[in-house]
Amino acid sequence: MKPDLTIGSTAHKELLCREFIDTHEPYEVATLRWPELDTSSLERLQTLPFWDEAVSTEHATAAKVKAQAALEHDALMRQAVALQGYEEERHSALINALLTQYQITVPPRPPAPLPPNIEWAFLRTEYGECFDSFFAFGLFALAKDSGFFPPALVTRFEPVMQEEARHILFFVNWLAYRRAQTPLWRRPELLLRRLLAMTVQAWSRLQTARGMATDDFTMKGHESFSADLSPRDFLHRCLQENERRLSQYDRRLLRPRLVPTIAQTLLRVLR
Ligand SMILES: [Fe+2]
Ligand SMILES: [Fe+2]
Repeated sequence: MKPDLTIGSTAHKELLCREFIDTHEPYEVATLRWPELDTSSLERLQTLPFWDEAVSTEHATAAKVKAQAALEHDALMRQAVALQGYEEERHSALINALLTQYQITVPPRPPAPLPPNIEWAFLRTEYGECFDSFFAFGLFALAKDSGFFPPALVTRFEPVMQEEARHILFFVNWLAYRRAQTPLWRRPELLLRRLLAMTVQAWSRLQTARGMATDDFTMKGHESFSADLSPRDFLHRCLQENERRLSQYDRRLLRPRLVPTIAQTLLRVLR
């Protein structure tokens, strides 16, 4: 429990929703200006292997988060979750705008139908965000420092990174609030669902990482930005960035702990 705030209380709910709503950045993708890229930057951008996955993930996430918003009984909570759905949709639109701007073509993928159990899908998606965001923060910082992308393009995607930090902060607090609101006799069921969602998502990330190791990005993405960076340095950078991005919000809110703890444990065993 953090000072002056009981997790699961009405004050906690109001703080977690207000912090999320008040830190929302209003911008329209259609009005954004894109920088001119030199030939080598453009080639680097066009050959990145993840555009297809990025567009469809953001699109699917938006659909699931919006569906979860419709399930929320509390008006403030509904507003906050719906705002997250809007931001996810904006991420998808932003990537689409980039693809159009720099003539990157991805094979069309039909949108996946919404799963029947929305809350389960939301839990899985958000655990996925906790894994992805942690590593994305580190990769983004490396891309910025190494000049892999021109600064103007880095600036364009900076709000997306910070939005993901807000999303995972919101999720861990949403989950803690939800747990506190669940009657004692139903908490084991909630815990089981959480553990399952976490495990399924961790497993699927591991599979993706294994699959992508062959095309040298997820596992070795950091090497694309900085050849002499060790996995240890990379994890260290992810932890630093995670702390920096999340430290901007009210100290009384809970912080995501799972992935940073795994990373800290790995740091202890990695040479
Ligand atoms: Fe997103
Ligand atoms: Fe997100």
